[in-house]
Amino acid sequence: MKIKDSVLESGERTVLALRELYSDYGYEYYRMGKFEEYDFYAKNKDFLVSDNVLTFTDTNGKLMALKPDVTLSIIKGCDAEIKGVRKVYYSENVYRPSADDAFKEIMQTGLECFGEIGAAEVGEVLTLAVKSLRTISDDCVLDVSDLGVATALLDALGVPDSERGAVAEAVGSKNADRIREALSASGAPAERVAAAAKVFSLADDLSVAIPVLKEADGVFWGIPALTEFLSVLTALGESEGAGAVRVDFSVTGDPNYYNGIIFKGFLRGIPSPVLSGGRYDRLMKRLRKNACAVGFAVYTDLLDRLASAAALPKDDFLNVALPKGRLGEKIYKMFAEAGFPCPALLEESRKLVFENEECRVRYFWVKPSDVTIYVERGVADVGVAGKDILAEYAPDVYELLDLKKGACRMAVAGPKDFKDDKGRALRVATKFSDVARTYFRGKGREIDVIHLNGSIEIAPILGLSDVIVDIVETGTTLKENDLQVLETVFPISARLIANKSAAKFKKVAVDRLRAGLAAVVEKLS
Ligand code: PRP
Repeated sequence: MKIKDSVLESGERTVLALRELYSDYGYEYYRMGKFEEYDFYAKNKDFLVSDNVLTFTDTNGKLMALKPDVTLSIIKGCDAEIKGVRKVYYSENVYRPSADDAFKEIMQTGLECFGEIGAAEVGEVLTLAVKSLRTISDDCVLDVSDLGVATALLDALGVPDSERGAVAEAVGSKNADRIREALSASGAPAERVAAAAKVFSLADDLSVAIPVLKEADGVFWGIPALTEFLSVLTALGESEGAGAVRVDFSVTGDPNYYNGIIFKGFLRGIPSPVLSGGRYDRLMKRLRKNACAVGFAVYTDLLDRLASAAALPKDDFLNVALPKGRLGEKIYKMFAEAGFPCPALLEESRKLVFENEECRVRYFWVKPSDVTIYVERGVADVGVAGKDILAEYAPDVYELLDLKKGACRMAVAGPKDFKDDKGRALRVATKFSDVARTYFRGKGREIDVIHLNGSIEIAPILGLSDVIVDIVETGTTLKENDLQVLETVFPISARLIANKSAAKFKKVAVDRLRAGLAAVVEKLS
């Protein structure tokens, strides 16, 4: 039976093309049921994207769950001991909570390779990841990183465990200055810090990345993970998909499950990754399987976005979300000086979108707290947001540069005669609930968060709370309300942020803007 192409939707066509691709490489089709016993997920909940699982009770009274993940179920069905290599592919729906706390059905097509995994198997999985992206669009990027290399470099530098979080945050933000600073704190020799900082700052194709990794291999000789990573990348560099591969250490995963290579795939026009995978020997071990494993999934439901992106005119403008207000105007002046002027923006008007055709830049004025939403969802390629908003909402964006404007601090403040009664939960009024929770959890102090939307200083005066967690700039508001700073939580300033996909597909413009702004910041300080 031959099926007419016209009756297939584009997502279905993609899924069939992927299945054909995996089958051509010797992967066997793996089909599974829609449910698992809930207990299985309860035991492995850290591996899931969310703890929230859709459950129901079956006719025997057993608590069941609609599958939130495919990989776990496939591993469960594996033999405890795998000789040689076993290759499977699947096309299944999973059920996960969406942003609005409802559940959604997500279509995933992917593959897993189990057993005696070596460089050849890892190379084949990476080749198939690139080919999967290319099946959908040639305008794609596969970002590749290696957790084994990252850990070995930090070990070789002697970075203590307590400092690794700061390094990970700087690497995840793609902020080269902070990466260097965080690594220098180890006190390792300058040559080693410089070589490692270059590796951790990579966001480049193989022609640039391989020499940087080789240089590090020369400086830190004898790191087996690095040598193996280089050999996988060199082999990949000779394959036809090499042009789509970039090395980027901001791609990371939970080290309790993943080890070795880890990767994410992006398509122009889709703001979040459409493919995600890596090597997960540790997860196998946790599930008592004596075998290694590597695999990936393609989120085929996201591909609907491609059709709508394709309908838009091809946009080579750099789209910038600026925070409306006094700070935004100062920030715009820095952008203009960095080579992205748009004089119409400063004219008196109620307009919110401005373009400069010649410089290929488009600005939007948006509410300061909304900038991250526009950037995370890819409507704006870059934007400027305060560290307060970034800390509170933890958007999935790169934080490229500290613009050193709008300096203030996040602080705990309270009445002048405040005495902490440790016998009960501290009542904290704030707009920044997550910041407050994280801060007091770090101090081991139980709190009762009272979320307010403004005029926070009034809360302790009226007895609604004991203290507040809020922004302090000049300190005038606190003073005039008989309050004082009790502790500083962290310093705040405006940061340049970028959408993760735009940072790849508009790399030239984003890199030019970052470098231009860095020069302006340098000049002003
Ligand atoms: C912010 C902050 C403080 C005030 C601090 O309020 O929440 O209330 O500025 O500034 P200062 O130290 O210079 O006095 P904002 O103006 O954003 O209004 P809000 O009451 O809506 O939070």
